[in-house]
Amino acid sequence: MRIKKTVLKKILGEEIFKRVKSIGEICEGMSYSCYLIGGTVRDMILKVPQIDIDIVTEGDITSLITNISKKLRLKRVLRSQFGTTKIIFEDNLSFDIAQTRKESYPYPASLPVVEKSTLGEDIKRRDFTINTLLMGITKKDFGKIFDYLEGINDIETGIIRVLHNKNFIDDPTRIFRAFRFKGRLSFRFDRKTKKLIDNAIKIGIIKKLTPQRIRREIFLSLKEKRWHKIVLEFSRSGLLREIGIKNKIARRTINSFEKKLRDFIDIKGNMELTKLLIITENAKKKEIETFSQRVGLKKKETLFLLEMRNKKRWILTSLSKKEISPKEIYWLLKLIPSDGLIYLIIKGDTQTRKKIKLYLDNLKDMKAKIKGEDLKKLGFKEGPLYKKILKMVLDEKLNGGLTTKKEEIEFVRRFMLSL
Ligand code: CTP
Repeated sequence: MRIKKTVLKKILGEEIFKRVKSIGEICEGMSYSCYLIGGTVRDMILKVPQIDIDIVTEGDITSLITNISKKLRLKRVLRSQFGTTKIIFEDNLSFDIAQTRKESYPYPASLPVVEKSTLGEDIKRRDFTINTLLMGITKKDFGKIFDYLEGINDIETGIIRVLHNKNFIDDPTRIFRAFRFKGRLSFRFDRKTKKLIDNAIKIGIIKKLTPQRIRREIFLSLKEKRWHKIVLEFSRSGLLREIGIKNKIARRTINSFEKKLRDFIDIKGNMELTKLLIITENAKKKEIETFSQRVGLKKKETLFLLEMRNKKRWILTSLSKKEISPKEIYWLLKLIPSDGLIYLIIKGDTQTRKKIKLYLDNLKDMKAKIKGEDLKKLGFKEGPLYKKILKMVLDEKLNGGLTTKKEEIEFVRRFMLSL
């Protein structure tokens, strides 16, 4: 199989195509082999827009990067501890380049120890067949796909298949990856892969991962367009239980949450915290604490989940009442961060949504126009009373009583007389 240059240009975009070709030419000049590899080729075959570029060579990476720096306009070169190098061009486009390497795992769930290897070994160290494809970028095989492990067939038939039995024991983050690919691409697992995942979860391998690694995988999954499908898989497989959440998530609950998220919310961003609220929706306090610790959540994020757990029912009940005043709405919602408000919009009834909209459009940024200095001029002594008066003014404004600064001053004067 060979992908035509015109097709490649279309998939990658003119600019990326040009740079990939240049790197191929530089390798050619050094008599190095050079390929696009892994997820890059998978996504090209699937015609995914915006593809991350991973390049591999059997040649010496240091000399190659030196030559690339001489010929292309690079802004930065970043080397990772696992033998990959990120080159960042002056216009911020970036490619990952690596020398072929194999990995060994000193113990289950450890980080890999990396050493140089042949191209064949580099392919065999990978997670799933769909991620083992190569595409030549040197002149003689530009656009040619090398498929040693039947990756194309698995892409075409929609199958996620592991390469070896220890796949998930060596690197349990691949369990998260497996669900991510399954949800993202609507693929299915082959029988052996499914069995290996189930076994790995059953023997408690997830608990061996560090919180940072789990966090990375969870947040990557929540960024996905079909995050709800992936979370459902996490729940059904028992993976969520391993990170603290005992109850299974119902398909209906999460699907309807996702639909409303799309229908009601017109803001960009991944809303990971809002999504964490649905994951922890029925969890007890202790479960949320365990989850937060296993997923390496920050203190602020944990507090957010716990606060929402405590307050959400009360807020939702209060907001669904017709007679609640703007002032009450304001003080009820004031301390809720936007991710929490989104959750409440989705969970609430029409009345609740109306109230939150009123809060966001009209109340949220309301402030008293008068300041401390105005109170001073009116004859008040500086002190805790200031705060109390400014709050009274704000409350009156929230309920629609005061618009101009003059009216506010008048209001404070009346208050003075009543003292
Ligand atoms: N890889 C692996 N095991 C991992 C992570 C990565 O075998 N735990 C291999 C896969 O071959 C993968 C490649 O390294 O295709 C690049 O990794 P990464 O960029 O993380 O994955 P992608 O497959 O590109 O996934 P995504 O599309 O989510 O970025």
